[in-house]
Amino acid sequence: MRIIAIVNQKGGSGKTTTAVNLAATLVEKGKKVLLIDMDPQGSASMWYGFKDQGKGLYQVLTDGEKLENVIEKTKLDNLHIVPASPLLAGVEKALAGEVASESILKDRVANLPSQPWDYLLIDCPPTLGILSLNALTLANEVLVPVEAHVMALHGLVQLLKTINVVKQRLNPSLAIAGILPCRVDQRTKHSVEIVDQLKDRFQGQVCSSVIRENIRLAEAPLHLKPITEYDTHCNGAQDYRKLADELMSQEKREIPKPSVV
Ligand SMILES: Nc1ncnc2c1ncn2[C@@H]1O[C@H](COP(=O)(O)OP(=O)(O)OP(=O)(O)O)[C@@H](O)[C@H]1O
Ligand SMILES: [Mg+2]
Repeated sequence: MRIIAIVNQKGGSGKTTTAVNLAATLVEKGKKVLLIDMDPQGSASMWYGFKDQGKGLYQVLTDGEKLENVIEKTKLDNLHIVPASPLLAGVEKALAGEVASESILKDRVANLPSQPWDYLLIDCPPTLGILSLNALTLANEVLVPVEAHVMALHGLVQLLKTINVVKQRLNPSLAIAGILPCRVDQRTKHSVEIVDQLKDRFQGQVCSSVIRENIRLAEAPLHLKPITEYDTHCNGAQDYRKLADELMSQEKREIPKPSVV
């Protein structure tokens, strides 16, 4: 099972849009996927129709609840979700002083009685606190959605440094699945230049897929449908299919993934 944490501490960079729609396109291509929503905002859960899920994942992280008890089926065959709980916002406090609190989720996943999924995707919150650390300790890979805007590049170096620290201290096999340019507006010079700069600066780490700015992606959550169901032919659906293909081809070729800088 490939475990991919979708991370960027910058808010609004496209994490949830990527988690929800990459999950849907992987499933469309025959993969079995588990999506874990680690963000107390619960945007990915709401997108799939799960709202205010009681204690849920909070209890798994703080109180020994089994992970299998909070896994839900979604409307899509072969896609399961662990919905977020608003209580997750209090995890940091609840785990203060706990030894090795960054590896709780990893332990819970290891203890699942079965793991029928090909992919486990984790939608992270826009902070690098204990929730994101749990995701990075569990993951084999990170996918970093970056909004194609100059301000977005500043935080990226810092994020990659943090990922590198996690790799050194907690998770030596952590690799970069890719930096994913999102909200790319190919009509503007600025947006295209940012993608070029990303490719220059982070050679070999930037996905060849880019996600174009597409209003359908912003509308889809209001209809509680992933883009594949909301508007299956739009640019957004096509771009996330390409991303799924790109990730799946990494799997087939088993190319060594670039390690963190
Ligand atoms: N390719 C796109 N085209 C148009 N709108 C997009 C696209 N990607 C994301 N958006 C919009 O940008 C906003 C932020 O996206 P999203 O929620 O995916 O980011 P996020 O990184 O998960 O945010 P947060 O850090 O708050 O969790 C949302 O309103 C979303 O609809
Ligand atoms: Mg989000």
